[in-house]
Amino acid sequence: MRIPFVDLTGQHVPLRTEIDAAVARVIDAGCFIGGSEVAAFEEEFATALDVPHAVSVASGTDALVVALRALGVGPGDDVITTPVSFVASAQAIVRVGARPIFADVDAFDWNLSPAAVASALSDYVRAPDGTLRAVDGRRLAAILVVHIFGAPADVELLASIAAEQRIFLIEDAAQAFGATVRGASVGGFGDAGCFSLFPTKTLGAMGDGGVVVTRDSQAAERMRRLRSHGANASAGNEVYEQVGYNSRLDALQASVLRVKLPHAEAWNEERRALADGYRERLRGVPGLSLQQCPRDQVSRVFHQFVVRGTRRFSAHARLRDAGIETREYYLKPLNEQVALAGLSRVPRPLPCAESVCGDLLALPIFPGLTHEMVKRVADEIAAICTSET
Ligand SMILES: Cc1ncc(COP(=O)(O)O)c(C=O)c1O
Repeated sequence: MRIPFVDLTGQHVPLRTEIDAAVARVIDAGCFIGGSEVAAFEEEFATALDVPHAVSVASGTDALVVALRALGVGPGDDVITTPVSFVASAQAIVRVGARPIFADVDAFDWNLSPAAVASALSDYVRAPDGTLRAVDGRRLAAILVVHIFGAPADVELLASIAAEQRIFLIEDAAQAFGATVRGASVGGFGDAGCFSLFPTKTLGAMGDGGVVVTRDSQAAERMRRLRSHGANASAGNEVYEQVGYNSRLDALQASVLRVKLPHAEAWNEERRALADGYRERLRGVPGLSLQQCPRDQVSRVFHQFVVRGTRRFSAHARLRDAGIETREYYLKPLNEQVALAGLSRVPRPLPCAESVCGDLLALPIFPGLTHEMVKRVADEIAAICTSET
């Protein structure tokens, strides 16, 4: 029995008739960019998250870029962020002309550590204009937190730190659609929350897509302008007051997402049940540890189920030989990526990030994966780890 890392047919086959009808509706209407499908999807997405504004864009990466720009983050600014993420989180900061400042993660949940953020903050002092400035004059503009693998970071604490310091909190919730803290959806705690609709995400399109959510109606308006070349529609046709992007979710994707959105919670429940199966079987396996999510009333999602263990390399290869596909996320902390060298700063050592990265293995988890398959993957891993102790 071959077990793929991800298989989307479990989501799409049961909905195929509805998806076909939605696509046909868009083709018949002949409106492919913007229009009622996109507007309806944005409204439904905002309702699902219980936030007032959802602005769709062309990808999760663009969601971060548009959010940062809309909040006025740009050249001369610093943004404190995590080194344990997909490269897009830090690249977005660089793309708006700002500089990522990497602070360490916590050892238990692999998310940005509020204590490390507090320590990074001590490098800045309050200037007469009320901003936080480093000795070289750079402004500290924001904290960009990532909910890695679907486990919420401590957004309540980070939001209060950001508010106290009068800087922005931006949530990279690309991997966390459906996760909640005290019943409130992640993405809604910061000044902006950014989601990826990449097909494998917990809510995925049939191509690229992204959404920014915000409670700030003026920021939402700036996001809408930025995604469409900086056009200020309310000032009349062809009025461009800033340089923006062509970054729109297209109507075909919106129509498919509208079919999928009502099923996302059930799919997340299915992923949680599969994760329970992994956790039960992997408990106590020598050399292996799991991502923890210990805070009260936190309901995570499992975009990925990731194990940490020093025997990852041989486990990856041996699982492949057994017909089980896994992925190595993340091989190095972002500060070690060549693309970010010279464009970011590491003010303090990152021992947790360095020890976590390179030691992680993501296991198959997706709607449609069976408990029998989970058992097989877990048993193989347990056998590998036990044989190598
Ligand atoms: C944490 C994180 N941020 C941002 C992104 C970028 O999203 P997209 O691929 O939709 O541009 C991803 C996508 O994998 C991600 O995992």
